[in-house]
Parts: sequence; structure tokens; C-alpha cells
Amino acid sequence: MRGLLTLHDLSVNKIQEIIDLALKLKGGFSKNYVGKKMATLFFENSTRTQYSFQVAMMNLGIQVVGFNASVSSVQKGESLYDTVRTFEALGLDGVVIRSSIDNYFDQLQNIKMPIFNGGDGASNHPTQCLLDLMTIYEEFGHFAGLKVCMIGDISHSRVAHGNIEVMKRLGMDVYISGPEEFNDGSAPHLDFSEAVKTCDVIMMLRVQFERHKEKMQLTEKEYFKLYGLDINKVNLMKEKAIIMHPAPVNRNIEIADDVVECEKARIYKQMTNGVYIRMAVISMVLDGDL
Ligand code: CP
Repeated sequence: MRGLLTLHDLSVNKIQEIIDLALKLKGGFSKNYVGKKMATLFFENSTRTQYSFQVAMMNLGIQVVGFNASVSSVQKGESLYDTVRTFEALGLDGVVIRSSIDNYFDQLQNIKMPIFNGGDGASNHPTQCLLDLMTIYEEFGHFAGLKVCMIGDISHSRVAHGNIEVMKRLGMDVYISGPEEFNDGSAPHLDFSEAVKTCDVIMMLRVQFERHKEKMQLTEKEYFKLYGLDINKVNLMKEKAIIMHPAPVNRNIEIADDVVECEKARIYKQMTNGVYIRMAVISMVLDGDL
């Protein structure tokens, strides 16, 4: 299949190539694909991923075809495959898909049009991982030896699962922290207070209430007290350490209101970088380089 579905089969060199192109695009380098048409097929809610993909397409001169699942033939029972096959038949040059089904793309093996994964279940969110990596690379200029801890709702997070695998391959020391009920063993556990003092990157994760099958054991107030990043904890961080969060954020649950835009926070920079990463990925796929 063409496009970008997961980072698992992408080499470290290719990942660096994408980041380098994104940085060039951020610096003013331009690419143009006038005449191409793409759509974002989102079957799960999104603000950042959907609209930054659309802005990336516009920046590349690509026409964006509107799609709204709630008023589409999906409501008449049309399958994911038939929906995507329809856009291929209409002559689109690529689609971005988000679905709550893990590895939904396994159903789309016969599609020849490029597919860009905007997130599948709790498994992959490749462009989010790439924009996280770009933000870290911009900050530190390298990956190897950096210590990163992801804190919070690990078990429901496709961002955590995608990032852990690729960050390890890039030579980073990756840890997880947070409540035991969200610890799925995907990386070694670090006590939150130690993580705050020793890590280069503190990546807070949203508590994904909408994915919980059972009510969280802690109250929101208890969660914030034990695992929320407040300004007192920020003051314990290393001088050059940074705070990241894929967003949307639950203010005053996993991160304090006054920390979201504090001097160490890179949350809105991550969103800005998302546009350039998505421009780079679309461009490389359309050029046959990915
Ligand atoms: N980070 C992220 O995927 O945000 P959205 O759900 O708003 O796309």
C-alpha cells in the first residue's frame, strides 16, 4: 500500500529525511502540487490532525475535497472500503483517514491511491510521532541519549505506543509514568517525581475518558494531585528540559492551566510543526520518495 500508515517499517534514515524536509519547508522552501486533489476522511473527532493536514495540502497547492462522515453514505451503512474505493474512483490523489478501529488499513489492501493514517484506535498516529520528533530535534539537535518520559493514560494512547517504538530506535531512553491502571508495560516505569527531575522531555498525555470502558479509579482531583504537571513540578525540571503534550489537553487534570503555555512548554510549537511534517510526508509520497 502507498502512503504512510505506521512508522514501524520506516528506517531511521527515512524518518530523519522527513524531519529534514519539514525543517526546510518551515524555513521557506516550497513545493507545489497544483492540480492534485485530496480528502480527509475522519470517522473520529479531530481538530489538529484533520485541519493541519488540510492546511498542509493548501500550502502545497493541493485542492481539498470536503468530507463529513455524519452526512455521508457511511450513515446508510457503506463500509470503509467502499467509501475509500469511491474516492479512488473519483480520481483523488490521496486520502487521510482516522478511525477508532486498530489497523483499519488492513481492510484497504486493494486500494492503490496513497493513504495517510491520521490515527487508528490505540495503535498508530505516525504524523503525530513525526511532529513530536521534529520538535525534539529542533530543540536538542539530536535524539541519541535523550531521556524522555510519557506520563498518564499510556494504555489508551496511540501517541505513546507509536512514539515509544520509534524513539527507542532513535537511541532515546524512553520511560512511562502515571497510575498503575494505565501502565501497559510498554516501557520501563519511572516514578513521576524522578521523571520530572531527570528527563529532557516530559510528555504529558491526555486522560482519554472517551475510551475508558470502566470509570477511572482516581477522581480528577486526585489524578491532578498525583500525576498532574503543575508549576511546582515544572520548577524541578532540568534547565533545558521541555514539556510536550499531543493535545487536546485536559486543563487541571493532567496539566495545570498555567503550565500549558509556560516557558518550557512546546505544545503549540508541536501543532505548528505538524503542518510542516504533513507537508513533508504528502510531498515525499507524491514524489515517490516514501
Ligand atoms: N493530537 C491530535 O491528534 O489531536 P486531534 O485529535 O485534535 O487531531
